[in-house]
Amino acid sequence: MVGEQSDVPDVFDPRIYAAGIPHDRFRELRDRAPVTRQAEPEILGWPAGPGFWAVTRHADVVRVLKDSETYSSHLGATQIRDPDPADLPFIRRMMLNQDPPEHGRLRRLVSRAFTPGRIERFAVTARERAGKLLAEAVAAGGEVDLVRTVTDDYALLNLTDLLGVPASDRGLLHAWTERVIAYQDPDEPPVLDEQGRPVNPRSPAMLAEMFAYAQELAAYKRAHPADDVMTSLATSELADAELEMFFFLLTVAGNDTVRGAAPGGLLALAEHPDEQRRLWSGEVSVDTAVDELLRVHPPVLSFRRTANRDTELAGQVVRAGDKVVVFHASANHDERVFAGPHRLDLGRTPNPHVSFGDGPHVCLGAHFARLQLRVLYEEARGACGGLTLAGPPRRLVSNFINGIKSLPVRLPEPTARPA
Ligand code: HEM
Repeated sequence: MVGEQSDVPDVFDPRIYAAGIPHDRFRELRDRAPVTRQAEPEILGWPAGPGFWAVTRHADVVRVLKDSETYSSHLGATQIRDPDPADLPFIRRMMLNQDPPEHGRLRRLVSRAFTPGRIERFAVTARERAGKLLAEAVAAGGEVDLVRTVTDDYALLNLTDLLGVPASDRGLLHAWTERVIAYQDPDEPPVLDEQGRPVNPRSPAMLAEMFAYAQELAAYKRAHPADDVMTSLATSELADAELEMFFFLLTVAGNDTVRGAAPGGLLALAEHPDEQRRLWSGEVSVDTAVDELLRVHPPVLSFRRTANRDTELAGQVVRAGDKVVVFHASANHDERVFAGPHRLDLGRTPNPHVSFGDGPHVCLGAHFARLQLRVLYEEARGACGGLTLAGPPRRLVSNFINGIKSLPVRLPEPTARPA
């Protein structure tokens, strides 16, 4: 095992991210040590790990994500923390944790459920929903937390529509995702085993309730087919265990990402009044704005791969079995690719950000996610054109999801809003 480099900044500690993306640290790594060892000490009750390679430049991140033969999603799955070896076969049932060619079979099956026509139809419902939630927030007047009043419900309800989950069950989806995603955050106390050690939220024991729900819903959809993703999956050739895993994957991948992107985008707008005005006045297109806001606030901070063989990356020897972690948050701010990477430019084009990943696992829900964000910003323009921060946002303690737990903003009086 290669020794850690003690003189390079730490980008592993999940607590760092509660203060925002550590841009200075990433910049130093990109300049000085673009592929560098990171220690993985015990933190917040989670056991220490063997350490990993942090990949911070755009070109290297793309290279790792595209080369699934060398950088496997299957060997050690895709989270920085190593799973319990006993759980690995279970975790590998999810296509996120598979490599081609096996991955391709599931990917093709599920892609069929994400037809462009189906996604576009949700635009109407999403627009009504965004308009209603924003109008309620404005009516409440003065200072509001946009996460609690608008963005959490917006993302969750859009996902329940797509999957075909009754809206009244959205609380269940919310609780399950929080358990999996927010497990490093002190607001989400870990479930402990008999020895007092935290139980991995992705272990079979923790997911039993969600899987039982997935089966119940699939049975209902077979009896009452509808135009939704669960009907497509329930009537496909997926085995029961595969269907459960898909429900889990879509619940988590489709929820917390948009729940992070929506307040992250609104926060960036509130922090940049000039760019906000350019957007509201129509000077820049909402489509380029959506991508620029995703670039500066990537909802996913990092993903992990495991080297399949000895290789070399940016001059570093990486050994078979080593963990390799790509940092999307750093790649999106690489000066080698983006002019003025710390400047918010809502008209930026081209904008080759990697917020949706790259290679065989590139996000399957990107179109649906962009649609939701476009509609939300368009509705925000009409409902409250003029966002000002009323206090600092609260961020998630996580080195995986760039989450925002609260976003206090001041909304203008209805009479002060642009026509
Ligand atoms: C702004 C919102 C989103 C972001 C930033 C995002 C980001 C990502 C990223 C980075 C990956 C690649 C994972 C890897 O490299 O291992 C991914 C995969 C995936 N995403 Fe998204 N995602 C978003 C929204 C969604 C939505 C709304 C859905 C579905 C409803 C979704 C479904 C998936 C699925 C199924 C995969 C796995 C693809 C595979 O393994 O082939 N995502 N996403």
